[in-house]
Amino acid sequence: MIDIHQVRKTFKTGAMKIDAVKDTNLSIQQGETVGLVGESGSGKSTLGKMLSGLETPTDGMIAYKGIELWKKKKFKRLRPGEIQTVFQDPQSSLDPRMRVKDIILEPLLALNSKERKEKGKMERLIYLMKRVGLKEDHMNRYPHEFSGGQRQRIAIARALITDPQFMILDEPTSALDISVQAQVLNLLKELKREKNLTYIFISHNMSVIRYMCDRVAVMYKGKIVEIGPVQSIFQNPKHPYTKILLSSLPSLFEETKEKINFSHPPSLSSESACVFYQKCPLRQEICLKEPCYQPASENHTFSCHLQ
Ligand SMILES: Nc1ncnc2c1ncn2[C@@H]1O[C@H](COP(=O)(O)OP(=O)(O)O)[C@@H](O)[C@H]1O
Ligand SMILES: [Mg+2]
Repeated sequence: MIDIHQVRKTFKTGAMKIDAVKDTNLSIQQGETVGLVGESGSGKSTLGKMLSGLETPTDGMIAYKGIELWKKKKFKRLRPGEIQTVFQDPQSSLDPRMRVKDIILEPLLALNSKERKEKGKMERLIYLMKRVGLKEDHMNRYPHEFSGGQRQRIAIARALITDPQFMILDEPTSALDISVQAQVLNLLKELKREKNLTYIFISHNMSVIRYMCDRVAVMYKGKIVEIGPVQSIFQNPKHPYTKILLSSLPSLFEETKEKINFSHPPSLSSESACVFYQKCPLRQEICLKEPCYQPASENHTFSCHLQ
């Protein structure tokens, strides 16, 4: 469904250049939930935004069902609303001056006039509101009248109104209380089954990733350093960074209980072939000089000299 090939995104702010995403490859099959995990600033949202059309890749190729995104003419062949995003913070992604009804229906404005004028629009609105756990009479209220969890349900209904096939969920429950988080995650799982959706699920929380995803890609400083089926990554993490991520949750992950020693002093070298060189407890000279292996998408692979 999605094919990401050697994609790079460089941001320029003044004289500074940041490679938010570096030479990244990833493919996603229809019906999968693929997790992107990694600490803040690792490039997860930037990758998600390039898939949803909010950012342009500096280099590389992204295809959706064989249609190359970002090639203007081809992009038009894509049905608007086929790819939708749900963001972390419903507070800032929902316009406070709009009623719930108009918020949920808004994405239809981007569609062609036939779908916009469709008679069944109100029925669909009511069906979706109920489906995500809202009440019909909520439609005339404003976002501030709702709890965080309810606001995220509004955001989910808005994403579903265009009948998408692929959804980018960018930390959709990170701002919610634990108990509410579980309810929203379960709703997303049910919706996926019901509507045959494909998800990219972005999170910095390993247990949420384990609960939601079929496969997971671990990102560090703009690179996917390890990718594989979720069970395999959790039972047998291979990249030193993934091991560290998992060892910070020892009670959940008995297999990786041995903590990695982090006391290794960081090197003064700023340019290294390996993105994790500075913090890696297992680094060697070769890691500075030679590029690591590129992880392939299908199996459990990782990008490190210590294969
Ligand atoms: N619009 C932007 N302009 C400049 N730098 C950006 C922009 N968006 C993201 N970045 C930078 O790119 C890097 C990756 O950010 P992001 O994709 O948001 O990471 P994550 O979602 O994993 O926290 C960070 O260093 C961030 O500061
Ligand atoms: Mg982010």
